This record gives sequence, structure tokens and C-alpha cells, in this order.
Amino acid sequence: MRTAPICVLTLAALLAGPDGARAADPLESATAPKSATAAKSTMPRLVQKDGRYALLVDGAPFLLLGAQVNNSSAWPAVLPEVWPAIKALHANTVEMPVYWEQFEPRPGAFDYSVVDTLVGQSRKNGVRLVLLWFATWKNNGPAYVPLWLKQDPQRFARMLTADGRPLGSISPFSTEMLEADKHAFAALMRHLKKTDPQHTVILVQVENESGTWGAVRDYSPAALKAFDAPVPAPILTAMGKKPANVAWKEAFGKDADEFFHAWAVARYVGEVAAAGKAEYPLPLYANAALRDPLAPGPTVNWESGGPTDDVLPIWKAAAPALDLLAPDIYMDDYAKVDKVMELYRRPDNPLFIPEISNAPAYARFFFLALGHQALGFSPFGVDFTKYVNFPLGAKKMNEEALAPFALDYQLVGPMMRELARLGFEGKVHGVAEKKGTPAQSLEIGGWKVDVRYGLPQFGFGEKPPGNPEPVGGAFVAQLADDQFLVAGFHCRLDFQTSAAAPKKQRDYVRVEEGTYENGKFKFRRLWNGDQTDWGLNFTSDPVVLRVTLGTY
Ligand code: DGJ
Repeated sequence: MRTAPICVLTLAALLAGPDGARAADPLESATAPKSATAAKSTMPRLVQKDGRYALLVDGAPFLLLGAQVNNSSAWPAVLPEVWPAIKALHANTVEMPVYWEQFEPRPGAFDYSVVDTLVGQSRKNGVRLVLLWFATWKNNGPAYVPLWLKQDPQRFARMLTADGRPLGSISPFSTEMLEADKHAFAALMRHLKKTDPQHTVILVQVENESGTWGAVRDYSPAALKAFDAPVPAPILTAMGKKPANVAWKEAFGKDADEFFHAWAVARYVGEVAAAGKAEYPLPLYANAALRDPLAPGPTVNWESGGPTDDVLPIWKAAAPALDLLAPDIYMDDYAKVDKVMELYRRPDNPLFIPEISNAPAYARFFFLALGHQALGFSPFGVDFTKYVNFPLGAKKMNEEALAPFALDYQLVGPMMRELARLGFEGKVHGVAEKKGTPAQSLEIGGWKVDVRYGLPQFGFGEKPPGNPEPVGGAFVAQLADDQFLVAGFHCRLDFQTSAAAPKKQRDYVRVEEGTYENGKFKFRRLWNGDQTDWGLNFTSDPVVLRVTLGTY
């Protein structure tokens, strides 16, 4: 099995892409590539440095400002209802499924017409594309498996419960299904390699929220045999156990069923990923239906076997062809969202959020994601087909509903390369408003940044009330010891000297409002007087400040 192409960063490795092209050095410059030729020949890839990651697109760090369409919207006839929403959102990337049932209507006969349309129209609309391989698993079930396979009971093997009842999920021990899935996914990746030299497609998701609802593990004959066999050594090591010749129950006790199923599903998805990667080594990932990160309760509460936070090391060990494991976030609770981001941002796993609810309150979590050095962020259900997944997402989907997310993307879109580079260097901090907590603070270098929500712009207003709804958020990116890029919505930020310099006062030496163009900050005006006396107030206007500080 091939391993994931995440590499520990050296300058030389960065400069020479895997396809031999000389890429721009993201440490030197985060601007777009200098020539179209370089853009054409540079593979998207992940690089790692000091436990932090960047997604290189056209040879430089890229912040994926995404939008995922509804499940049934990646059909050519529906795309006219997709593009206006993508445009309204100011997204730079769209995420769209490829349906196995459409892609392989007869065994071995592949229909590339839809995927070609998705790639071609993404290119025409000036956005990058993430393809989602809807195959053996789409949220637990095999709904997208081609009919000819569904009608073949020999190959279409479902999981069994302990008392022999068939379940919605396919058995991860079904080798014939696995072979069929690998074969089709390899064909997709081979086709992309041939037809996408521009690298419009920058990432591919393998399956969708794989795992099982309704049982913790499989009891098919093959599964029963594997459960009593020794746990593979890499799994024991990944879970902090000493190598030993022990079966699952003995090794993991009450967690054995879930860990066993996670290993079985991860191995299957990992093999599909490896088959695709052998054809075309784009970065690949698997997404997770999350468990409650603070109070998970028993395993029946979540989709067992998927890459939930408790089994990430198992997935890493069993599916090395996957470059990252990604959380789908549908929980409007600051503490939980923050925890999820913390759990999925690991030295061995970059944070990427392929789905987040499109309900307006989630737009503020974009800033939290920036602070957690996310490679990308993508509200789900972005198209104007009139389907809404309320109460998970917004009640209505139109430009107005998208506006809070659109503001986020409008704000950072022109400087996404800079932010991606600064994030890679560990210089970006983010906050989002937490209901009932109207004040937060950040410690950055020798500075303390107070963030307050709900204050009028003029005057001290000692006690911030918080916004009527928690809509505030901001990021602070350090450019130099005493210089920061600052932007956000519905909040006030104020810099203070830190506890280490109690006798010094902060001085706003220069507060410049401007925009980023072609990697350069373009000055518009200075903020001074009322605009700085009470702190730096952010409203619903997408405003970027470059703040230079001093002390007296
Ligand atoms: C998460 C899944 O990954 C999506 O495909 C979709 O089904 C949403 N849940 C619900 O709309």
C-alpha cells in the first residue's frame, strides 16, 4: 500500500514538486504563481513543517474557501442552480459528489460525462473543485452503489447484527465490494490525471461519512473470524499498547467492538484510497460524522467505525493513503466546535472542515477555524435548488441566508494566500463569539488582545453585553513583533501590553485600513481619533486593518 504524500518540509522538497516542477517557495512569497506554465504543472499537495500544514495549490499555500452542494445537485441539468450560489458566497472552491451509480452504470463501463462537466464548469466559473466519491458508504448506507451490484446478493454483502439481522451498512469484510469500489475509484482518478492538467481538482474525498448506524460492529462470518484473530501490531502501537499476540476483546475490553469496526472500515476506505492514489496522487481525505466531543456517551450514540476523534490513530494506521481525516460540523455550541477543531488538528493530521452547517450562526466559526490553522472551510448545502436541510442548516437558502458566510469569504478572499502562508507559519489567531461570554482575550507575543462583543462603537462601555445573537468573530495575524493584520465582524478588538510589561502603555502607532491586491497591502486610509480611541470596532463591513503598535 502506498503511503500518503504528506512530507516533512524542507526547502528543497518544497521547491521541487513531485512531478519535478519548480514550485514557488511559500515561505518567501505566498502570492499566486508567477507563470501559467508553473500553475499547470504543479500538483496540489500537502506539506508539513513543525507540525503545521499547508495545502499547496499552484505551488503556494491555499486557503480553501469552500461550498458543498446538496447531495443531488451534481448533475449537469442542475448546475445552473449551483453557480449563482457559489458566486454569491465568494467561494474559491466547490465540493461536488461523483455518484458511483452514475459513474459505472454497467460493470466496467465508465461514464465520464458528468465528472467532465463538473470539472469543465468549475474551471469556467473560476473555482477549484473537491470531488466527493459517493460509493460503498454514504452516511452509513450503500445508496449510491450501482444497481447491477445492489442486485447481486453474492457481492452486495450487508453487515449482520449479533442475532443475524442484515443492516443498512455494507460489510467492510466484503472483498468483492471492495474490489469493485477500488476498480471504479481508480478509473475516476486515472481519468482526472488524463483530463485535468490544470489541477482544477485539488482534493478528493473517499466515501462519505463512512461507518455504521444501528450496530457497533459487523457479525458476518468473516468479521467474527477477524474479531478473534490477533490485532495487527500497528493498531496496537497506534493505540498506545505494547505489541502482543492478542485478539480484539483482550486488547481493548469494552472498546473492542468499536475499535475493531473502525479498523475494518478504515482498512477498506484506505484500500480504495490507495487504489486511486496509485493512479493519480492527489491529496485524499475521509470525512467524519462526529460524536459529541465533550460528552460522547456510549458508542450507539454515533456512527461507529467512522473517523471519530477517539479512533483517529486507528484510521491513521489502517489507512495511510488518506492524507487527512476531517470533521463535518453540525453543532452550534462554541465549546464543542472549538474542541472538535482542537481534536482534528494534530501533528499527524491537518484540520480541514469539508462540511459545516449553513445556518447563519456558524459563519463566525470561520474565524475559529483560521485560528486552528484550518486548510479550508465549507458550508454544506450551498445551491439554489430550494432544498434545505433545516434544522441542521438554514431555514431558507438564498443570497440573504448566505450573506454571513459570503462576508467571511469576501473579507479574506483577496488575501487568502497571505493568510494560508501565515497560518502555515503559526501566526494566525482566531476568535468566535461564545453565547453568554461577551469578552475573550488572546495572548500574542508581548501583546494581549481583548475582544468584546455588543459594545457601541463610541465610548468605553465597561461591560460588554454580547451581541443579541452570537455573530461576532475576528482574526489577528502577526506580521512582525509589533505589527498585525486584524479583521472581523461585530466585535471590538483592543491591544494591551501583556502582564510582562505592566508599566508600559500601548500606543497605536499606525492603524491602516486597506485591501490586499496581488499579495500586497493596498492602503486606503488611516484610522485615528474616534476610530481608535475606544479600540478597533468591526461592524458588518469587510474591513482589513494593518496595525503597528508601540509603547510609552
Ligand atoms: C452530512 C452528510 O455528509 C451530507 O452528505 C448530508 O447528508 C448532511 N449530513 C445532511 O444534510
